[in-house]
Amino acid sequence: MPAVHAEGLFKVFGRRTADAVRRLQDGASVAEVRGSGATPAVIDATFSVEPGEIFVVMGLSGSGKSTLLRMLNGLLETTAGTVRVGDAELTALDAKGLRRLRQERMSMVFQHFALFPHRSVLDNAAYALEVRGVDRATRRAKAREALALVGLDQWADQKPGQLSGGMKQRVGLARALAAETDLLLMDEAFSALDPLIRREMQDQLLELQASLGKTIVFITHDLNEAMRLGDRIAIMRDGRIVQIGTPDQILETPADDYVRQFLADVDRGRVFTARHVMVGAPALVAPTAAPAQVLQTMHDHRSGSVLVGDGDGRVAGVATEDAVRAAAAVGAPSLAGVALLPPVEVRTTTTLSDLLAPAAQDEVPVTVVDDDRRLLGVVPRGAVLAALGGVPRPAPAAVPESLHPAGATALATKEAVRG
Ligand SMILES: Nc1ncnc2c1ncn2[C@@H]1O[C@H](COP(=O)(O)OP(=O)(O)OP(=O)(O)O)[C@@H](O)[C@H]1O
Ligand SMILES: [Mg+2]
Repeated sequence: MPAVHAEGLFKVFGRRTADAVRRLQDGASVAEVRGSGATPAVIDATFSVEPGEIFVVMGLSGSGKSTLLRMLNGLLETTAGTVRVGDAELTALDAKGLRRLRQERMSMVFQHFALFPHRSVLDNAAYALEVRGVDRATRRAKAREALALVGLDQWADQKPGQLSGGMKQRVGLARALAAETDLLLMDEAFSALDPLIRREMQDQLLELQASLGKTIVFITHDLNEAMRLGDRIAIMRDGRIVQIGTPDQILETPADDYVRQFLADVDRGRVFTARHVMVGAPALVAPTAAPAQVLQTMHDHRSGSVLVGDGDGRVAGVATEDAVRAAAAVGAPSLAGVALLPPVEVRTTTTLSDLLAPAAQDEVPVTVVDDDRRLLGVVPRGAVLAALGGVPRPAPAAVPESLHPAGATALATKEAVRG
């Protein structure tokens, strides 16, 4: 079941709104409808947001993004169409049901922080829970946890006035996280921040999303931001959604000239990250594996090195073919004595620009790791340049066997492997 589903959604302001919807449905143009005193802001929007997805809505000022978002949370009544949030039909709820749904299932983060200046950072973060009637001790404990998630636990007792813009926005985010709703709705949440802080916030959101698995609807007028954050992006123009797709799909096949105009400004090196180019992690080789067997598997996979695991999902080091061959030649029973090269590790949020240097060395494959240095995937050789140059990615099915013609690869033999 989608986390959010919108079906034939319309918002028309002004006069004779229902009539305007009918005429738009019958093919009337926006200009014609405007003539009769109606302002269509959202026209026939249909889409689903999947659980755990970052769904970005992007478009120029006035294209209807905020109006759309405000219908998703029920702050604005729809002129026509339905909104479902999980199993609940939001558009069929009465005021009380709506308030409850909003409190329990969704959190909003706005551009202008909406913090209370006279309350502490902690009480600001606890606000959504306070509204919900959660007792003081519980809500303060949850707010503290949420502040820790955004790195502001030291500031809990300060007033918002003492914080920078980026920190204020983190408090807004902490407030949304403390509410523990599955759905986060963010309207231009980072747009007021200066570029460096904005990128930090984007990284932080991606990391939080990866660990907490929230469903996020994120509104922005910045395509670079949309591309960095979005699992999928809906592009709006004059009230209509003109394209929905993954960043790759939109880059490869823009729906029209409007979308193409946006793409001219995309800085691929800063927009795309390791997340976009990585493929699944190969199995790690145990240090106890026999060199001869490891050599055989390297040969089978035409790979020049293997990732040796620490038994805990981390890469202890990289064994080159030469090193393994030398161990086999002297009859070593395992890889234990083999000198390993240090792994080259990056994060999912490392940009393509920052991946160029690690990817350029050719002895050690580039591995993508999480906070605890656990292996998430590898960056295939050539993938960084291909993504920078706009070359389409190979089909995922082709990946496991030929991951790294000259780098690491999966070792499938059960005895040799510990993951
Ligand atoms: N309350 C209202 N009454 C009349 N028209 C409105 C109202 N709210 C929004 N509109 C109109 O609806 C259209 C869409 O506005 P909306 O705020 O959703 O755009 P947006 O994409 O969020 O823009 P921005 O990027 O500037 O925030 C605009 O033409 C706007 O003037
Ligand atoms: Mg807006």
